[in-house]
Amino acid sequence: MTLLEALATAVGSGHVVTDASMLASYETDWTGRFTGRALAAVRPRDTAQVAAVVRACADAGQPICIQGGNTGLVGGSVPVDGSIVLSLARLDAIGEVDTVAGQVTVGAGVTLARLQQHVRPLGYDVGVDFAARESCTVGGMAATNAGGERVLRYGTMRAQVLGVEAVLADGTVVSRLHGLPKDNTGYDVVSLMVGAEGTLGVLTALRLRLVPLLPARTVALVAVDDTAAAVGLVRQAREQLPSLEAAEVFFLDGVNLVRRHTALPAPFADEHPAFVLLECAGRHDPTDDLLALLESATEVRDATVASDVRGRHTLWQYREAHTESINAEGVPVKLDVAVPLRSLADFVAQLPDAIPVGRLVLFGHVNEGNLHVNVLDARDEAEAVTDAVLKLVASYGGSISAEHGVGRAKQAWLGLSRSAEEIAVMRALKDALDPNGLLNPGVLLPPA
Ligand code: FAD
Ligand code: MLT
Ligand code: ZN
Repeated sequence: MTLLEALATAVGSGHVVTDASMLASYETDWTGRFTGRALAAVRPRDTAQVAAVVRACADAGQPICIQGGNTGLVGGSVPVDGSIVLSLARLDAIGEVDTVAGQVTVGAGVTLARLQQHVRPLGYDVGVDFAARESCTVGGMAATNAGGERVLRYGTMRAQVLGVEAVLADGTVVSRLHGLPKDNTGYDVVSLMVGAEGTLGVLTALRLRLVPLLPARTVALVAVDDTAAAVGLVRQAREQLPSLEAAEVFFLDGVNLVRRHTALPAPFADEHPAFVLLECAGRHDPTDDLLALLESATEVRDATVASDVRGRHTLWQYREAHTESINAEGVPVKLDVAVPLRSLADFVAQLPDAIPVGRLVLFGHVNEGNLHVNVLDARDEAEAVTDAVLKLVASYGGSISAEHGVGRAKQAWLGLSRSAEEIAVMRALKDALDPNGLLNPGVLLPPA
């Protein structure tokens, strides 16, 4: 039996895609920068079928590219030439919410938006949220340890994932979905799989902790002088507002770019160089506390506040529409870095001179020192731009990937954030769990 016949036996021939026009959407990433030709895309519907697919590939020595919603921004979700794409999209079952524990078990292919719609009517919410919610899957979010807009309150995906079910590279199924918050019985297999970017196993199901749905919300868009002022304002907000849930930063050129691609009006009558978006949420209206902060903080040049759904959404659009607006201008070099908060302003000041070419657009999750460095018009100098920015990050003791992962885009620079000893540990884990390197080759780890 050929590999394609074995895959068809595993999932049904209708779910082995080989037609070039139908394969195209699996082969290119969200930014349009990363692409590869797949042998086929395979769409199993449950864990047993995933295991059968992986076993067939293991028997044939066939590399696998694991794909969820394909919203990843570091080239990890698209194939190297000749891989099969293993799509988890059909593993979309959502279990009943366990209201005693405040947890839920979901298939890896469930999108974040669907999960939110499922749990919110029951008074729960998902601790991680970001603009790709309609397409990104819970499996992809766990594989990348996604962060997003609420990390300051709820942590990253790792803090939400209490259990996983995964298929290893030889087809073995490892299941740990009981969700016990306290469990010290040896190596933490669950946490190991989170942030592994699909290099150690295929996540098929996840046990997630849920957070309370907070009904009263207020968003403030605040104009400030610069990055230092943004950091100063967020520090006070963190100290004074227990209801603080999000703190984002962006700049005038980013707002102008967003306005070119949306119908948004100017946010203020006057122009301002930088902006902080704050969101507070609680059981009781947090508006008065937020207004008190805005009145006392010397960093505030101007501010506008919204508590209603529509007004909040409009203010968030200035921030969340950055990613699509940047893509609308061309294929960007996207870097996703973090530096210690005390160095963020210096880092931002040095960036324009550090890049050899291109147009910078910066925004990010300011409380974590996490900046999205986007460079448009880098032409054929993407590598040189990446090298310059990541070396600057390393000089500040920062991370070359704060939330999107290393993927294919940054694996050559992993040594800037991880020691040789740490990389050796990672390689030993990879060799132990996937000795033939079939899962996501080229992702995360540089060649041996
Ligand atoms: P994919 O893109 O399909 O895959 C991402 C990686 O995970 C790949 O390496 C893939 O092989 C692996 N993978 C996927 N599913 C599995 C699985 N079931 N088992 C094992 N490995 C798997 N990210 C943030 O962290 N914070 C943000 O604020 C944020 N905002 C975004 C906004 C926009 C508009 C867009 C387009 C992206 C944003 N991202 C953000 C990046 C992206 O959405 C996240 O990385 C997301 O977690 C990827 O989920 P996905 O299902 O699309 O995964
Ligand atoms: C975001 O915070 O909006 C993202 O991580 C996406 C991006 O970097 O463009
Ligand atoms: Zn982000």
